[in-house]
Amino acid sequence: MGVKIIGLGASVPLKLVTNEELSRVLDTSDEWITTRTGIKRRHHSSSSETTSYLSYKAGVAALRSVTHSDDSDVDTLIVATSTPDRRCPATAPKVAAMLRLGKIRALDINAVCTGFIYALELADALIRSGKSKKLMLIGADVFTTILNKQDRTTYPLFGDAAGAMILTNSDDDNILSTYTGSDGEYENLITIPDGGTESALRPDGVNADVFFRMEGKEVFLKAIAHMKESVSEALNLSGLSKENVDYIVPHQANKRIIDTISQLFELNKDQALMSLEEYGNTSAASIPITLVRHVKVGTIKPGNKIVVTAFGGGITWGAAVLRWPDEKINANVI
Ligand code: UT7
Repeated sequence: MGVKIIGLGASVPLKLVTNEELSRVLDTSDEWITTRTGIKRRHHSSSSETTSYLSYKAGVAALRSVTHSDDSDVDTLIVATSTPDRRCPATAPKVAAMLRLGKIRALDINAVCTGFIYALELADALIRSGKSKKLMLIGADVFTTILNKQDRTTYPLFGDAAGAMILTNSDDDNILSTYTGSDGEYENLITIPDGGTESALRPDGVNADVFFRMEGKEVFLKAIAHMKESVSEALNLSGLSKENVDYIVPHQANKRIIDTISQLFELNKDQALMSLEEYGNTSAASIPITLVRHVKVGTIKPGNKIVVTAFGGGITWGAAVLRWPDEKINANVI
């Protein structure tokens, strides 16, 4: 039994914020952000553009994109997010209700920026085991709600977005391998220190530090090392070699990281697909929104072998090898 990709879509909030606009309110510049990261613009949510709302819209876009499918209904929804609508309950049941998917299995997972790969691996296992016949996975984050607007080392880097993919069981196989890993020894590299049980259970119970923090330089090096390992492992598991790869879609955190990864696998620059100049680092949405962009403009073609890879808080990492489906997918960002 194989796993087939039949739908893909994404969503961003209406408000676009350029580097120039940010440099009017923060001690930064278009020149610094562009040369150090490659990011030019990002979208910021308004108060109604929550994680569930962006997830719902991405889900609608993915459902509309399907051109070939049997009649079976979506029976599982996985939302990968580290910025859920509420700490309790999970966001996925709400999104399933908004999408009118019925009383289905619905769960969140949190692997921060690696969330989409973790969700894909879980989705793949649920379908191959026969537990699910048709599944929607969504990567969605609204990082503007956890960032300190005065912190120039994080605020310019992230944008809000959601991306959704629909998978079914099939004789075709579009997921050739998945690989994931983690190392909790490094939880402090990417973190919101307070706001969870650790701070609530302290005698003072104070939530002093509720903003997102990242040790950029160390994360930069670990991201390269672990995405390199992940791509190698996923290729080994798929039985393919780097010469068989048409495109790589790395997590969209920094163009310099993406360039290094493609050099390490001797891929040319055109083979590393990007969307970060347009959307910034959208955390769990980063891989699906990049896929949508390149399916829409026709870069990604049927039969292409694509390696997706990510790195994020936890720390976590992972990769998957995809064979792009033969049937058309009308992918869009809405
Ligand atoms: O999504 C999860 C995974 N995340 C990542 O993979 C991110 C990995 N890390 C990075 O992408 C980069 O480390 C950053 C983009 C976060 C930072 O770039 P960097 O080249 O490592 O810069 P840095 O942190 O070493 O800072 C260099 C200088 C510092 O000034 P001094 O100390 O040299 O005077 C910073 O204060 O740049 C300064 N700086 C800024 N200047 C203008 C930091 N942020 C800014 C800014 N505008 N926005």
